Amino acid sequence: ESYDMGGHDTYMHKEIHEQVDAVDRVLRGRIDDRFSTVRLGGLNLDAREARGVRRVKILGCGSAYHTGLIGAQLIEELARIPADAEPASEFRYRNPVVDPDTLYIAVSQSGETYDTLAAVQELKRKGARVLGVVNVVGSAIARETDGGVYVHAGPEVCVVSTKCFTNTAVAFALLALHLGRIRDLSVADGKRIIAGLRKLPEQIAEVLSGEEEIKKLAAEYANAKSMIFVGRVRGYPVAREASLKLKEVSYVHAEAYPASELKHGPLALIEPEVPTVAVLPDDDLLEKNRATLEEIKARSGRILAVAHREQEKADHTIVVPRNEVELDPILMGIPLQLLAYHTALALGRDIDKPRNLAKSVTVE
Ligand code: AGP
Repeated sequence: ESYDMGGHDTYMHKEIHEQVDAVDRVLRGRIDDRFSTVRLGGLNLDAREARGVRRVKILGCGSAYHTGLIGAQLIEELARIPADAEPASEFRYRNPVVDPDTLYIAVSQSGETYDTLAAVQELKRKGARVLGVVNVVGSAIARETDGGVYVHAGPEVCVVSTKCFTNTAVAFALLALHLGRIRDLSVADGKRIIAGLRKLPEQIAEVLSGEEEIKKLAAEYANAKSMIFVGRVRGYPVAREASLKLKEVSYVHAEAYPASELKHGPLALIEPEVPTVAVLPDDDLLEKNRATLEEIKARSGRILAVAHREQEKADHTIVVPRNEVELDPILMGIPLQLLAYHTALALGRDIDKPRNLAKSVTVE
């Protein structure tokens, strides 16, 4: 991949479409079918050390933080290690307890984000082991961490992150699988996740082939006063990222909430001019999520669902292909990148260089 526009009008559009190849690249050469695991050459964490990890703490900013939320869920699910993510920009301003049994992971596309770098430096000063999940090879965060996983998304030019977000989520799935297989993830589950990962490039292509339909939906929702994004557990980081995408590139105000939090306040915002985008994977929370759609409908809210099958309570459903439930956040985010893109296009925004933003924030 290069800086050439390759026939696209914007880098954002080009980078959204590059995801099929980018995901293929992050997987390439890393899957080990013999042991139903993955090989991560630069991790610098041997099996004994990995088994000694008692907690995982993931740090990043913006979209990188959101991939950290996905990563934490994957690590808990596949490796059964308690894990959470925190904005690096918050972490560095507290006096966090630095625990020797915690594995810290810094996430960054550019590898130069000052807040994330400062968090890494503070952790290193206090003796922590810090890994990086980074896109730009040889960047400051890649150099300062003890090892890690390169994301291999290729150069990302648009200020708004798309392909790097997706590739980072896949990189976390690889890391979680690796940690799981040297702790207590079964061979069968290892195989199942590997098969799911292998299906991703083709399924991403399938999602992207629905672009015309998403473009029409974007035209329909572009004049919203504000948009609410909701999801539960695996759907929640997807909702957060989609809300950030929409804000950044279209300047439409958006808020993301865990679906179950709606009734604790944001339900007051629901009206026909404030549509909700609901992320509803076909997992064990589907019925709960459907009940949320009913609550929204009862308040005359319009609903755009992203789901594995048509949702009758929703005004529109974008159907995405099924994969393994643990990998749902990876595919479900992609149509919402297109929604943000086409909303921005309909509103005539400067897509590759949204106002007030820089590609990497290298200052405090
Ligand atoms: C993503 O669309 C944003 N422009 C922004 O949130 C970004 O993810 C954040 O600034 C972190 O950048 P990094 O990944 O280069 O560290």
